[in-house]
Amino acid sequence: MKLPAIAPDRLPALLAAMPKAELHMHIEGSLEPEMIFALAERNGVALPYASIEELRHAYAFTDLQSFLDIYYAGASVLLKEEDFYDLAQAYLARAATENVVHAEIFFDPQTHSARGVPMQTVIRGLSRACVDARAQGTSAELILCFLRHLSEAEAFETLEAALPFREHFIGVGLDSSEVGNPPEKFARVFARCRELGFHIVAHAGEEGPPAYIWQALDVLKAERIDHGVQAVHDAALMQRLAAERVPLTVCPLSNQKLRVFPDLAQHNLKRLLDAGLCATVNSDDPAYFGGHINANFQQVFAATGMTAEQAWQLAANSFEASFAPAADQARWLARLQDTFERFAAPAEI
Ligand code: HPA
Ligand code: ZN
Repeated sequence: MKLPAIAPDRLPALLAAMPKAELHMHIEGSLEPEMIFALAERNGVALPYASIEELRHAYAFTDLQSFLDIYYAGASVLLKEEDFYDLAQAYLARAATENVVHAEIFFDPQTHSARGVPMQTVIRGLSRACVDARAQGTSAELILCFLRHLSEAEAFETLEAALPFREHFIGVGLDSSEVGNPPEKFARVFARCRELGFHIVAHAGEEGPPAYIWQALDVLKAERIDHGVQAVHDAALMQRLAAERVPLTVCPLSNQKLRVFPDLAQHNLKRLLDAGLCATVNSDDPAYFGGHINANFQQVFAATGMTAEQAWQLAANSFEASFAPAADQARWLARLQDTFERFAAPAEI
């Protein structure tokens, strides 16, 4: 496809305006401090923080585990179906303003079942928000994630509890504390999920080694790798990911905040694209990492000097990497082309 030339000063606006799919966003990670306080009050939950500012102040993570401790504590205010609906509705409304045309949303049912919240409360609330978003023109799907710091038996129990609601989610994933919890720990659970016809994704190579990415591909049969940025340390793996166009859902601001890279200027997104990988840009946990998807695009482009051509590639990759029907992907790609043509035109005076 022939790309029109775009003036560099129009790049930030183009990044915001271009249609895109978001494929790596944990709904519990979209819970803003304001909503934590509002839900705590609505549900009569006591918080160990006196104010929104004090809570925000506690968001001083230095790695994945120190983030996860705060992220699981924040989710403790989610109790009722309405809470899950409101959370997903707020994310999807915001995503629509950022020109997200399709979202595949992660949720962590074990974070809630541990507090006695029934599976149906979680899934019905989230699913109802997805149905309403579709009616407003944003395509939205759910992906159930297993917490990898918990056992295989607990993952199987979670799957059993979710199966009565299977029409409400399209796939399964694997998240939480990576190092020490390799994908192979969940080989049998994912084999069962494949038999059941679910799409398979897995976090791998965020902090963990390339060996975990190999396992996600070969043992779990993951169709997409979440994060995957550690792949650059293994040339054979890079070749495989490029040859098979295995998508990586990269999250620049998350990687910056959790110190996967010393700073954003050192992020390897450009290198992944240059090597021919199907990399995408996503927000991971926008309430915790300082920005939604457009901030991720704008800040990583500013820090690494990427171009309009790479913006087009990343948006096109997000459609290709999605589990959406080919006809929808083609429609979004045509909208992407229209947006670029609009931005190439001389500015109106
Ligand atoms: N990694 C692992 N688990 C997570 C993440 C992440 O980036 N975000 C929410 N749960
Ligand atoms: Zn994640």
